[in-house]
Amino acid sequence: MTTTSLLQISPDAVTAAARRVMERCDELARVTATPRAIERVYLTHEHATANRMAAGWMREVGMSSRQDAAGNQLGRLETTSGPDEPALLLGSHLDTVRNAGRFDGITGVLSAIEVVRLLRAPGGPGGPGSDPFGHEAWHSPLPFALEVVAFWDEEGTRFGKALLGSSAVAGEWNEDWWNLTDSGGTSLRVAAIEFGLDPSRIGEAARRPEELVGYLEAHIEQGPELHRRGEALAVVSSIASARRFQVTVEGEARHAGGTPYDLRRDALLGASEAALAVERICRAEHHIIGTVGQFEAFPGGVNIIPGETRFSIDLRGEFDGERDRVWGELSRELDAIMGRRGLRWRHREIHNAAAVGCAPLLQDVLREGIAGTSGDSVAAGGDEPSVLFSPAGHDAMTLASITDVGMLFLRNPDGVSHHPEEAVSVGDVGRGIRALAESVLQLAADRRAA
Ligand code: GLV
Ligand code: MN
Ligand code: MN
Repeated sequence: MTTTSLLQISPDAVTAAARRVMERCDELARVTATPRAIERVYLTHEHATANRMAAGWMREVGMSSRQDAAGNQLGRLETTSGPDEPALLLGSHLDTVRNAGRFDGITGVLSAIEVVRLLRAPGGPGGPGSDPFGHEAWHSPLPFALEVVAFWDEEGTRFGKALLGSSAVAGEWNEDWWNLTDSGGTSLRVAAIEFGLDPSRIGEAARRPEELVGYLEAHIEQGPELHRRGEALAVVSSIASARRFQVTVEGEARHAGGTPYDLRRDALLGASEAALAVERICRAEHHIIGTVGQFEAFPGGVNIIPGETRFSIDLRGEFDGERDRVWGELSRELDAIMGRRGLRWRHREIHNAAAVGCAPLLQDVLREGIAGTSGDSVAAGGDEPSVLFSPAGHDAMTLASITDVGMLFLRNPDGVSHHPEEAVSVGDVGRGIRALAESVLQLAADRRAA
């Protein structure tokens, strides 16, 4: 493992970059639909505001910026060798779950902007001509263009379907998605038009493989592994295979007092047994994680036996086959539970993503990027940085169908994420920015040498 640092930049510049990321995470946290909580979802006023802020930050470091046909915000910095060179994409997402933390996705977008700033800094790798920002004199040290991409909607918070923006970029938009509706009954099509997008032009967001060098995403880990190991950064080996379902259980709504137990067909109790079965079966499988995150009973009266219950199932695993086998086992178990209770059940699959491996070349480049920070002993965590599988989903998994992808994980204290107490330290953000910048330079050096 080489530990040469390619980025000749002062530790103070990296610290300033990390502080800027933290301040901007706070600024974005104030762009929310819910007072005293963070909620920023697709095709809303908050989406437009966050994109405007991101565009300003991209332009500040000398990138051009545009919103694409799916509402993703992109910044681009040409290489010195010409305007149409393939680009290395750096990014993550700006949308959030409900009652979110302030770092999931956001850190990756803002860190990517800081990477561009560091690469352009005076005395940085652009050589003597380096000059912030946007000055003609800057000589790109890179044999490729650099783009920063802020994706929407990674989480699927508003329409249930995750990874919408990155699917559009991957050219995998499904026309049926336009009919998805949010909880207020607004369709994705109507929301897009109201936001100012033209659904008939969604194909224009798609990128061709030959336009791209690869995609690198920095993200908080969203689990406790790095925290437990006392390490700041890790290379990601692969991203989870996932399936999500909306399940409806039908029974009979009747009087809570007058209906004896042998006449009850209580949809809530059937659904509750099903939720426990998700935990029991997934726990027994070790490699599959199952979650019931939404659960609603109807008609919802204190004195009415629930006649219908709807709930979600989220299944994740390292391998598609195991995940599908567990779904098969769960379906048989739900048949048995509902059969015993005189209930009917049906399901709709709302998300299906195959497991995705990160490109070996980009894993190597990120490993060297982390090693390049090894003046800082915490960063490397010994001779070799940890390599982790990601049970969380990421935009990288969609991009993998059109280009090589690589991911860098940042330590996330206690692994708390999708929660207001989600955290990352300013020191680790600095290590992440530095490792990402080193990785970009390493990739540039590899390509020049090839
Ligand atoms: C995204 O955060 C997911 O893994 O659900
Ligand atoms: Mn998330
Ligand atoms: Mn995320």
